[in-house]
Amino acid sequence: MTILITGGTVVNATGTVVADVLIDGEKVVAVVLPGSTALGADLAATADRVIDATGKYVVPGGVDAHTHMELPFGGTAASDTFETGTTAAAWGGTTTIVDFAVQKQGERVQDGLEAWHKRAAGNCAIDYAFHQIIGGVDDDSLAAMRTLVDEGITSYKMFMAYPGVFYADDAQILRAMQVARDEGLLTMMHAENGPAIDVLAAQLVAAGKTDPYYHGLARPWQLEEEATHRAIMLADLTGAPLYVVHVSAKQAVAQLAAARDAGKNVFGETCPQYLYLSLEEQLGASSEEWGAFEGAKWVCSTPLRARAEGHQDAMWQALRTNDLQVVSTDHCPFCMTDQKELGRGDFRAIPNGIGSVEHRMDLLYQGVVTGRLSLERWVELCSVTPARMFGMYGTKGVIQPGADADIVVYDPAGLTTLGVRTHHMNMDHSAWEGVEIDGHVDAVLSRGEVVVDDGGFHGRAGHGRFVKRGLSQYLV
Ligand code: URP
Ligand code: ZN
Ligand code: ZN
Ligand code: ZN
Repeated sequence: MTILITGGTVVNATGTVVADVLIDGEKVVAVVLPGSTALGADLAATADRVIDATGKYVVPGGVDAHTHMELPFGGTAASDTFETGTTAAAWGGTTTIVDFAVQKQGERVQDGLEAWHKRAAGNCAIDYAFHQIIGGVDDDSLAAMRTLVDEGITSYKMFMAYPGVFYADDAQILRAMQVARDEGLLTMMHAENGPAIDVLAAQLVAAGKTDPYYHGLARPWQLEEEATHRAIMLADLTGAPLYVVHVSAKQAVAQLAAARDAGKNVFGETCPQYLYLSLEEQLGASSEEWGAFEGAKWVCSTPLRARAEGHQDAMWQALRTNDLQVVSTDHCPFCMTDQKELGRGDFRAIPNGIGSVEHRMDLLYQGVVTGRLSLERWVELCSVTPARMFGMYGTKGVIQPGADADIVVYDPAGLTTLGVRTHHMNMDHSAWEGVEIDGHVDAVLSRGEVVVDDGGFHGRAGHGRFVKRGLSQYLV
């Protein structure tokens, strides 16, 4: 099966060109100027299928490097399965996710990884890879970390937050980073001071401040800045490279920027919610249906931050200046009914997470529309750098001969309205209800198969394959 995508503006990190993209089977085989006969024939006449992309962007499929399908959390589990979550991702132009296999205190890393393979295998509509959560650092899990690279898992996440769940103390972090340095693993860090947060949260609840809004007050920026700094110093000490996930505080960005200016291998990711949403407007929201519990829709960690303090603008700026390198979603959806509701009367019991896997490409494209990002930077943040950072570039994250034909045809003249009636994520609400997007995902190819076009989904669970990743390609 050959497909020719004609007349579109092909966008890579290095620039744009109006070109035809020829796909044979699962791979891109040529990027040629329209009408070129260099390949010896009229390509449009011989291709099995032609997709007209005139006036549209042809971009490398999105790589969402931070998702949590089916994650057990707070007595429930994230509401998207690998099937529903990867299908929604495809609708939004994401063709690879990197999800987190889970190991907790007292569990074997190998068992956690095997369980994650069982959940995902045969159920994904797009390609998928794993990071490994190390939620319990001990001799056994440290030894298991030494086997991860052979499994195609070249990054792992630790938590300075969530005591009693995933939390690692400084001694554990230091030991894990030493192993990471030896093995070439990239350390991903949830950087918030969990023990201090737990004190503040308990004091707020004791004072009767139980609404979702107080989730934000219990997790002040000082405790993100402090943990970010500590993680940077521990990484520096060990020589392990560091990638801080879901950065939301401008002071944490300043810590990353200072480390980068000092030449350290320190990187950062933010998420659409931290670019657009705020403590005041969302966590503090109230509605007829839910009252002040409305804010539970946006309970996630790190928390949404005060717009009055300028965090959102600082995130956009850091994306421009490369103090932050990647935008992922941290997709971790929970329904209001029966899930978020567990924390009515005590915000500490609200399962943490927002669902956005379907909307990342659209939401970040608005940065191009408003002049905050170039087209190339949009593609870099959403596809190229996550692929490089996590050892998939060349196969993923680029449109060039030899790459997987993971491609999005994006219509800058199209319009998309976000909301629970139109999205495909398994959620009973949307964190993005009513948001109007300038732009539209018109067609999506996953390894040469057209999974979305003409407003329909043509993919299938089981098409997606596990991607064995190499070491990070972003390090010197
Ligand atoms: O609120 C969040 N971020 N939920 C997912 C778990 C995590 O910390 O990434
Ligand atoms: Zn986290
Ligand atoms: Zn996460
Ligand atoms: Zn369209």
